[in-house]
Order: sequence, then structure tokens, then C-alpha cells
Amino acid sequence: MSGHEFETYFEHSGGIDTTDTATAIDETTIAELKQLAGRYPHPPSALLPMLHLVQSVDGRVSPRGVEVCAEILGLTEAQVSGVATFYTMYKRHPAGKHHLGVCTTALCAVMGGDALLQTVEDKLGIKPDETTSDGLFSLERVECNAACDFAPVMMVNWEFMDNMTPDKAIALLDDLAAGKEVHPTRGAALTSWKDNERVLAGFNDGRADEGVSAGEASLRGVEIARERGWTAGAPDERN
Ligand code: FES
Repeated sequence: MSGHEFETYFEHSGGIDTTDTATAIDETTIAELKQLAGRYPHPPSALLPMLHLVQSVDGRVSPRGVEVCAEILGLTEAQVSGVATFYTMYKRHPAGKHHLGVCTTALCAVMGGDALLQTVEDKLGIKPDETTSDGLFSLERVECNAACDFAPVMMVNWEFMDNMTPDKAIALLDDLAAGKEVHPTRGAALTSWKDNERVLAGFNDGRADEGVSAGEASLRGVEIARERGWTAGAPDERN
């Protein structure tokens, strides 16, 4: 290897923020990270849930989180960082108490997703990938959430807010800012992004069965099939 420094073509693509070393990772977190690693026959398979647990504690993928995951899994910190910066669910800077996602992929865009995003930007005074100065909200432009039958959709802490309008978005943000109990269209009442990150890490909060589990549009096909007596047939009859 020559003495040349590595230069990235994507100079603004960013990486883990190594200048922000704040961390709340303690012995309990490390024990839980090891517990996650122990759930898999091949421990590195646990990296994705482990990074979610890091986020639930530090509000982002912190340098200490990268270090601890690498130590536990026998990986290099570069390998851990490479994974953490590949997936958009892993944050390089602190997310807000409530992390908002607005879908602007084709169907949501046609149904008003761009106007929805603009409304949220104007209301909060931030752009996508930014966090409000009070730490209450962060914003992300998200790709299709596989909820096109409810377009346009917003996410709050990865929970669905279906069939949104600018007025509904403003009311939602006001309620969250006021600390009111808010229910997504499907799923349990909203708590915080960090709380949901812990669930995504694989620690059950016991609330999986709360709230509406499926929306009317998603169930319409099942209803039609039942009305007409359609069945899927046994697997070996489908060829
Ligand atoms: S395009 Fe927005 S959920 Fe599919």
C-alpha cells in the first residue's frame, strides 16, 4: 500500500460521527449486546439488532457502540461502521425523541407526499436528516414503506400514520409536542424512537398486540375472496 490517503468521491456522504463521543452504554448494555450475539449460531449475524440496541441507548450509532459491537463479534470497527452506514435505519447523528419519516416515492408523491414533506419541514424548521434544536423531532425522507394502499403515509418512530394530509400532519406534530398520547393508524400508542429501537433490537415490550393490526384497504382482498369462496389451495396444488 502506498502512502496515499484514501479519498472518497462522495465527500459529503459522511460516516459515523467520531467527534461526538458521548455515550450512555454501560455494563447492562454490554451484557444485553452479548445476549443478542448469543442468539445466533454465527454471532456476527447479530450485528443489525445490536446496532438497534446501541441506538436505543445512545440515540444514534455512537463510536463507543461501534467499538463494543466490534469487540463482542470479533469484527473490525471498519466492518461495523460499513454496515451501520449502509442501512438508512442506522443514524449517524442523534435522532429526535420522535423520528419522522415522510414517504415521497411514486404513489405517495402522486397522492401528496411532497406537499406533506414540505408542510413538516415548514412546521419544524428543519430539512430531511436534521433534528430540531430541542431534540424533539428528526426528519427523514423515506422510500416506499409498502403501505401504498394508504398513501400518502408518514412514519413516527417507524409506526404508520396512514392517509395523511398537511392538516393532519400539523395536528399530529402539535399533539406530539404537547406530550399527548398519540395512536398510529396501526399498532400500539407511540412512545419514543429509542423505545422502538429497543423493540427492533429484539427486546419485547409486550405491546405487539395493542392497537389495530391491519388497515381496511389491506384486508379488502381477503374479504372479497371470502365473499366469493376463493381459497389458495394446498401448496402442492399450486403448480
Ligand atoms: S409509495 Fe409510499 S408507501 Fe409505497
